[in-house]
Amino acid sequence: MSPFSVLLFLLQLCCLQMMLVSMPTCMLPGKVVKETHEQLRDLGRQIPTHCQEPNSEIHLPDSALNATSTTHDQCHWTSLVVYECLRGAGLIFAEYELPEGEGGVTWSEQKLDVYLNLQDRLVEDHQCLNTAEASGVLSPYFKNVTAVIDQQDGSACGWEILRSDLLRVLRITLHRDRKCFNWTRAH
Ligand SMILES: *[C@@H]1O[C@H](CO)[C@@H](O)[C@H](O)[C@H]1NC(C)=O
Ligand SMILES: *[C@@H]1O[C@H](CO)[C@@H](O)[C@H](O)[C@H]1NC(C)=O
Ligand SMILES: *[C@@H]1O[C@H](CO)[C@@H](O)[C@H](O)[C@H]1NC(C)=O
Repeated sequence: MSPFSVLLFLLQLCCLQMMLVSMPTCMLPGKVVKETHEQLRDLGRQIPTHCQEPNSEIHLPDSALNATSTTHDQCHWTSLVVYECLRGAGLIFAEYELPEGEGGVTWSEQKLDVYLNLQDRLVEDHQCLNTAEASGVLSPYFKNVTAVIDQQDGSACGWEILRSDLLRVLRITLHRDRKCFNWTRAH
């Protein structure tokens, strides 16, 4: 081998290693995300019909779930979007009080607590998925839903819409992008 081809070989080896190191290995744990979805689903009834119609334009666009840029493969984008949805919801839960009593939400407090613990743990443990890109794509949605939650009347609908949209994102991604989650059990 000429010195030049040895050099070329070494360069390739080095390049391959860099690719392996920079590959996204941060994945959300499938079992935990699945349980998060179940708790959120079971904590109340389906979204009331009166909340659906006038606010239908604020629903999370399906297109947000599809990778559009070539910098992410579909799996990585799914992880980023699911993470951002949980993070965005976490911020709203931290900042606003759930309306109780008449005209409020009638969610199971116990299931809500379990859900919030799971959500916070996922957000806390996977900060490697926190990106300005996904946050930018979802921020118009969160702005709109927050505006409804912030209203004196109709706040309950805002919360129902948030829950219903989160459920949809989790349901679609767990089903469509099953392989994008980490199903290895923790020890
Ligand atoms: C947010 O609200 C604005 C104004 O009502 C609307 O034009 C826009 O489509 C909404 N975006 C989302 C993602 O809900
Ligand atoms: C998203 O991609 C799926 C295929 O993976 C396709 O069936 C669907 O129509 C796409 N949705 C949007 C809104 O682009
Ligand atoms: C998948 O989960 C297992 C168990 O928690 C963990 O050891 C492993 O690092 C995870 N893999 C990725 C790619 O996140």
